[in-house]
Amino acid sequence: MIKPQSAPAIDQDVLLSTARLINQDVEVNWKDQVSSARFSPFWLRDHCHSEESLNRETLQRQVDTFAIAKDIAPAKVEITDAGRTLRVTWANDGSVSVFPAGFLWQISRNEGRERAPRRTLWDRDSMGKNFPSMSHREILHSDAALLRWLSLVEEFGFALTTGASASVADLETLVKRVGYVRQTIFGGMWEFSANMAFKDTAYTSVGIGPHTDGTYSIDSPGFQMFQCLAFDGTGGDSTLVDGFKVAETIRQTDPKAFEVLTEIKVPAHYLGDGVHLRAEHPVISLDHNGDLRQIAYNNYDRAPFRLPVPQMTEFYRSLALFHRMINDPAYEVSMRLLPGTVLFFDNWRTLHGRHAFEGQRHMSGAYLNKEDVESKLRVLRATKPPGARK
Ligand SMILES: [Fe+2]
Repeated sequence: MIKPQSAPAIDQDVLLSTARLINQDVEVNWKDQVSSARFSPFWLRDHCHSEESLNRETLQRQVDTFAIAKDIAPAKVEITDAGRTLRVTWANDGSVSVFPAGFLWQISRNEGRERAPRRTLWDRDSMGKNFPSMSHREILHSDAALLRWLSLVEEFGFALTTGASASVADLETLVKRVGYVRQTIFGGMWEFSANMAFKDTAYTSVGIGPHTDGTYSIDSPGFQMFQCLAFDGTGGDSTLVDGFKVAETIRQTDPKAFEVLTEIKVPAHYLGDGVHLRAEHPVISLDHNGDLRQIAYNNYDRAPFRLPVPQMTEFYRSLALFHRMINDPAYEVSMRLLPGTVLFFDNWRTLHGRHAFEGQRHMSGAYLNKEDVESKLRVLRATKPPGARK
């Protein structure tokens, strides 16, 4: 099982070769690397790795940032520990700050920001019928298997398990293996069949087009896990569309529509069952690098809003393009979820839907928060369970 988490390991293989002062800044070079990096004195003091300045277990800052002298300046810089440590002696009080070479290297590479993970975007042809899938039992009992499964979800936006027992309790065990059951208006672990227990289209037997859940939630559910408990009838296949594939295609083929879909925040609402939720998301959200971050689309739940006529016309054109593409069978995969199969998907990337059906269909599922699943991935990767492939 997973050991108690400690701070992620700093890369020990990276070694410093030179350090010098340029005006008041510190410039360092690494062995076998052509790039250099320059750090300001104030930033360095704020990120000192001494025991007094940083809790090495939790990485919580213990420096009083606001007590650092604005004119703090290094008196001396040196490389120690055979290149593993930078030492800076400060001119104002003679104190010393230390920095692991791997920490400075990592910061110089990504500026302290996580980059989007490696993803494989797919459409119907490239996905084919070999959906990413693993054994339910293996995931429950092996951290390496759990890491592999979550990595599949990260790469493809969804994955299946086979061999589940088709019980709500078993699904809850799997959810808790990954993160927490999110509480929503629909409860924690939910169950539904074709009735109108809630005022929502999911609780009928009609077909449902591709959409993401919780467009009306400020923090839309990051992931959804569901399974079929019982099915006696025809139709009812679950459908998935890679929203990131559609978004990247729009970015390439219709930059104006892409701009509109990433910039116009679309309000959405949920009324009924004693609540009135409301939130705004662009249909396509980007991160600080311009990489895809989130798809938020459910035309049923869009709330009224208005733009000046030219922009509104452009918005409708762009939305229609997005709608047409996600409903194009070329982007859709479908699967009959029979009892014993669990579907886990990224609700910030993968749109889901359902074909119409006749008969009885009994489903259960749960939402998970984005941050909790990402946390589990970081912990599993940091602990490197034996046999982990990623
Ligand atoms: Fe849904």
